Amino acid sequence: MIATMKEIFSYRPEGAVAAFNVFGYEDASMVVKAAEEVKAPVFLMANKPAVRYMSEEMFFAITSVLAKNADVPVAVHLDHSGSYEDVKRAIDAGFSSVMFDGSALPVEENIAITKKIVAYAKEHGVTVEAEIGHVSYSDTVDEQGTVYTTPEEAKMFAEETGIDALAVSVGTVHRMVTQGAVLRFDLLEEIKKATPTPLVIHGSTGVSDGDLTRLSASGARKINIGTALRLAFGKTLRAEVEAKPDVFDRLELFKAPMQAVYDVAKEKILLLG
Ligand code: G3H
Ligand code: ZN
Repeated sequence: MIATMKEIFSYRPEGAVAAFNVFGYEDASMVVKAAEEVKAPVFLMANKPAVRYMSEEMFFAITSVLAKNADVPVAVHLDHSGSYEDVKRAIDAGFSSVMFDGSALPVEENIAITKKIVAYAKEHGVTVEAEIGHVSYSDTVDEQGTVYTTPEEAKMFAEETGIDALAVSVGTVHRMVTQGAVLRFDLLEEIKKATPTPLVIHGSTGVSDGDLTRLSASGARKINIGTALRLAFGKTLRAEVEAKPDVFDRLELFKAPMQAVYDVAKEKILLLG
């Protein structure tokens, strides 16, 4: 069934829920199959390149069919949107959940846009995540770099905006290809004490298996994973193409990469407990 973030959190009242960036039927269907297998709710997230590639309507058309037919709650979530207009397009297309990322903006501007988005989303029964502090990127020039979230600004930002979930920066970095992130569990604990708003961890491909489990036990409620699935699909597809030079049917070539996505998604969900 298709669900909002709030519905997903009530379905799983403790521990973290996995949220995966997906780019089409091949990976989205495998994520839902893995979630059903272990009876866990899950988020299917569209990032900017995904909606630029296929539009919000197309992303929703594919993922909402999977969500509606699933026997676990599935949120169709817009990830890292950069403006009110982006969010409005996704909500109008049917998304059940959205994230506005104003973490590179001055705090006052981040608050003002987030509030406007929360108002529109609430009218449509859609839940909102926003970010304070900044989770940086490992693969692009990110002049801002890591800006750790402080407990004070987390409390203030959550209260001012009325968001349903807060993305915090506690040591993760987006798009790492190794699991080497150094997490500040002390800071996560302080932020958790400062606000009752559910906390979200971005850039979780870079988190070690042990720390994924620890995050889930330490109050993180949504764990975003993207690169790990792209690595699984891409590497396996490359191996398939090289190993089978005479095969040109995509349905045949995609079998092993889809299985690899399923395996990684299931492993990550299980690590969250
Ligand atoms: O919002 C998406 C996530 O933060 C994904 O990060 O690709 O580093 O796992 P990742
Ligand atoms: Zn992210």
